[in-house]
Amino acid sequence: MDSYKLALITGATDGIGKAYAYKFAKKNINIILVARTLEKLENISKDLKDKYSITVEYYSMDLSTDTGVDRLSVLVCEKKPDILVNSAGFGRPGRFCDLDFINHKEMLNAHVNAIVRSTYSALSYMKEDRCGLIINVSSLAGLISGEGYTMYGSTKLFIKDFSDRLAKEVKQYNIYVQALCPGFTYTGFHDTSYYQTFKRSKYPKFLWQSAESVVEESLNNTNKSVLIPRTLNRFIYFVANTSFGKFIANKSMKSSKPI
Ligand SMILES: NC(=O)c1ccc[n+]([C@@H]2O[C@H](COP(=O)([O-])OP(=O)(O)OC[C@H]3O[C@@H](n4cnc5c(N)ncnc54)[C@H](OP(=O)(O)O)[C@@H]3O)[C@@H](O)[C@H]2O)c1
Repeated sequence: MDSYKLALITGATDGIGKAYAYKFAKKNINIILVARTLEKLENISKDLKDKYSITVEYYSMDLSTDTGVDRLSVLVCEKKPDILVNSAGFGRPGRFCDLDFINHKEMLNAHVNAIVRSTYSALSYMKEDRCGLIINVSSLAGLISGEGYTMYGSTKLFIKDFSDRLAKEVKQYNIYVQALCPGFTYTGFHDTSYYQTFKRSKYPKFLWQSAESVVEESLNNTNKSVLIPRTLNRFIYFVANTSFGKFIANKSMKSSKPI
């Protein structure tokens, strides 16, 4: 980790992305923050600069749009960060046919197009430099099949599979790629207007973990192309993929919200 100099993080104003920003800053790695909300970007940038002797730049872009995807790709090519973290993401609860198609298009842009384009841009110079770290934030939900949250689960499964295969392809260039697959994490994810009826208290506390501990485990295991943080989540993944587990997952996911 000590050899890295510049990290570009999407979704850097909250939750998991923000935790990466502070973790890198502590290691004296310069930061580029990307998210939509300008005020949050300004505040975090100022706080990071006040606390650490690093440079911080920030860019407001909406990665659910085609323009946002293009801008991110151009930014990566221009700045050439040696760490790229794609954490920007969101849930849109509801059944596939009940949601307006715009929800699916936005999710495909943020969870698939933005990640594939920015990764492609980053690899163009990382291969030459023979150095790089790319972390794409997936979800435990993408690894557990079941009825419900069709687009969220499918796009997160794509991120996991894409990153896992790519990691093997680019290992020879000393580039590490990781799909991070967290379970329930205390962040702003469940606080958006789409989750008005969601109550964290409905889910046992032991299922939840902090964004900081997710990021800690991710960065301690950059050689793992798929990382499910916490033994408990790895156990859930294992059980959920047994026949009995698939039956239970199917029943519970119909009524639950994505993670
Ligand atoms: N929290 C969980 O339980 C959990 C579990 C598994 C996986 N994940 C995944 O973890 C990732 C990070 O989520 P989080 O839990 O940290 O949620 P969060 O606290 O809501 O943070 C999301 C970040 O993404 C940014 N963002 C959202 N929509 C965006 C867009 N259209 N364009 C650009 N930036 C956007 C947000 O900033 P702005 O709103 O200012 O744009 C914010 O910085 C997501 O990919 C999520 O799917 C979360």
